[in-house]
Amino acid sequence: MFPDAFQTPRLLLRPLAPDDAQPIFDGYAQDPEVSRYLTWRPHTAIEQTRAYIEACMASSAIRTYALLRRDNGQLVGAFDLRQQSPTGLSYGYVLARQAWGSGLMTEVLRHAVDWALAQPSIWRIGSVCDVENGASARVMEKAGLVREGVLRRWLVCPNLGDEPRDCVSYARVR
Ligand SMILES: CC(C)(COP(=O)(O)OP(=O)(O)OC[C@H]1O[C@@H](n2cnc3c(N)ncnc32)[C@H](O)[C@@H]1OP(=O)(O)O)[C@@H](O)C(=O)NCCC(=O)NCCS
Repeated sequence: MFPDAFQTPRLLLRPLAPDDAQPIFDGYAQDPEVSRYLTWRPHTAIEQTRAYIEACMASSAIRTYALLRRDNGQLVGAFDLRQQSPTGLSYGYVLARQAWGSGLMTEVLRHAVDWALAQPSIWRIGSVCDVENGASARVMEKAGLVREGVLRRWLVCPNLGDEPRDCVSYARVR
C-alpha cells in the first residue's frame, strides 16, 4: 500500500536499495551521535549496513525509503513507514549529522502524515521517541503531531543501557 516514491521540496524518497550500503555506512551508520536514541549500535563494518538493508527490503510490513537531496542526489538519511494496525501507521527516521538542523526531517514527516491521513483506510499515524530525544520530539511537534503522553519503560536503546526507557508518544488522527 505504500507509495514507490515521495517527493518533498528538497528531498526525493525512494525505496532503499543494496547500493545504498556505502553511502549509509560512510554518511551516518558509524556515528554514535546518530544512533544514540535508536535501537541499533553504530556499525563497525559495512556488512552490518548491508544486512540492515537486506532486512529492510525483505519486510512487507515496513517500507524503508532512502532520503536523497534533490539538488545533488546525496543520500542523507532514511525514513520508514510501518503498518501498525489495519487502520494505523507508524514511522521511523534518521538523518546524517551534517544534514541536521535545516528542517529536512520535519519536511519529510509533514509530507508522510498528509499522505497517510489522505488514505481512506488510515485513521492514525504516530510514533514514539525517547524522553531525552528533544530534536525528534520537536520534529513531530513541528509536523503537527500531538503529544499523547509518556509510555513508561517502552523501548531499549542499547547505546544508553540494557533497561527499557520511557518514551513520548505522538500521533495525528482524523
Ligand atoms: C531527529 C532528527 C531526525 C531531526 O532531524 P532535523 O532535520 O535536524 O530536524 P529539523 O531541523 O526539522 O528540526 C529539529 C528541531 O529540533 C530542535 N532541536 C535540536 N536539538 C534539540 C534538543 N537537543 N532538544 C530540543 N530540541 C532540539 C531544533 O532546534 C529544531 O527545532 P526548531 O526548528 O524549532 O529550532 C535528527 O536529529 C536525527 O537524525 N537524529 C538521530 C536519529 C534519531 O534520533 N531519530 C529519531 C528516533 S525517534
